[in-house]
Amino acid sequence: MTRPVVIAIDGPVAAGKTVVGKKLSQKLGYKFVDTGTMYRAVAWMAVVRGVSPEDEEGLACLAGEVSLELSAENGERVLANGEEVTAALRRPEVEERVSLVARLRGVRVAMVQKQRDLAAAGRIVMAGRDIGTVVLPDAALKVFLVASQEERARRRHAELVAVGKAVTYEDVLGSLKLRDRIDSERAESPLRPAADAHLLDTDKLTVCQVLQSILELMED
Ligand code: CDP
Repeated sequence: MTRPVVIAIDGPVAAGKTVVGKKLSQKLGYKFVDTGTMYRAVAWMAVVRGVSPEDEEGLACLAGEVSLELSAENGERVLANGEEVTAALRRPEVEERVSLVARLRGVRVAMVQKQRDLAAAGRIVMAGRDIGTVVLPDAALKVFLVASQEERARRRHAELVAVGKAVTYEDVLGSLKLRDRIDSERAESPLRPAADAHLLDTDKLTVCQVLQSILELMED
């Protein structure tokens, strides 16, 4: 088949979307966008401005107005209204409220528009929760990564410990379960695979093996 120009990678917390998406985009020479960073940036702006996660209207205004710039090469750096917020996106205040902020319709409408604009030029790998179902339903290739909560918590815990964060595995598992529940049960664009998505269980797979499986799907 001709190379898909838009690839959607969805899945729950710490399923490997970012690491795999980034490597895949590098291999293909495509742009990579991790849409989770956009919701995290809105959640962080809400913390800075003192907007409560319950204030739906305030958050929708904030999401509509914020100018987000993701670094061109890998989507890793995020500027919100021109200010570097990358380091803040993994803070506990963001971790606690990002799923609450992301379940609001007004916030999602604003983010989805920005995401479609980013994808308009094609040659992009976009990772998130609703890319295959809502943001880019016409994506040529859709992958939905899954893994057990325990394995995902183990991976996220190792990532956090590697950057010097003092967190316990139990705390990571607890926060992951809570976010999984909010993301799956919300009314707006809940986390679920698109009907035409390829499900990949990554529990026993290395990053290289996941990447290889996706490349094989592209050959089909
Ligand atoms: O990296 P991790 O899997 O922990 O999460 P993330 O991809 O950074 O996303 C953070 C949160 O943003 C998720 O738990 C969702 O609540 C929300 N999100 C969303 O609703 N829709 C997306 N397309 C991406 C993220």
